[in-house]
Amino acid sequence: MATKIIAIDGPAGSGKSSVSKQVARELGFGYLDTGAAYRALAWACLSHDGFSVDQLSSLNLAQVFDYQISTDPDNFWVKVGNNDVTAAIREPQVAEFVSQVARIPEVRSFMKALTHRLVAESGKPAVVVEGRDITTVVAPDAPIRLLLTASEEVRLKRRSAELSESSAASVMRQVSERDASDSKVVDFMTPAPGVQLVDTSDLNFNQSVSAVIALIEQGLS
Ligand code: DC
Repeated sequence: MATKIIAIDGPAGSGKSSVSKQVARELGFGYLDTGAAYRALAWACLSHDGFSVDQLSSLNLAQVFDYQISTDPDNFWVKVGNNDVTAAIREPQVAEFVSQVARIPEVRSFMKALTHRLVAESGKPAVVVEGRDITTVVAPDAPIRLLLTASEEVRLKRRSAELSESSAASVMRQVSERDASDSKVVDFMTPAPGVQLVDTSDLNFNQSVSAVIALIEQGLS
């Protein structure tokens, strides 16, 4: 049977990544972080050992971008060729640069095909796929489509909770700027028709996980 997609979109700090991963763990599903592929492609451009951002629209990315990612929620890793880039793709230089990569239409259509290939290869009954355009562009026919949101204040607090005060201010600026730039390309702030909204502003992590699991169980039954 074809692997089902549980599509979860949302902005930075909505809790989408940590909630999606935990939901996958609890349900025995695969977990796919689609933002990691955009970040890995940005990392590849920044590392200057193959291609630059100006070439991305004319390259055959399926041939030149050797990308691998784990879909196991308990063992997450990302590779480009022989490089383990799991930590490198979270670096600020990558975060600052990734929107330039994500706005290229040819990159977005490559990412769509890549996502479907990774889901098919997961060998799991279902994969929780999280990103910005999964409910609308990548898998508009998915049996479960959710948009996780939280108020801007809560999102920025979550993102900066582990940082010092001065870096928190710069993270807040960076997250706001990135969301503003990304949302010009795909609207991940308002749910598309048929997409269920989960507002996590007043929910803690466990409550958010339970809310998402309840919607999945309801939708799949
Ligand atoms: O979720 P994230 O912060 O790791 O995403 C990294 C970047 O990739 C972010 O700038 C938005 C972009 N992205 C996207 O455009 N579409 C997706 N499905 C996932 C991520």
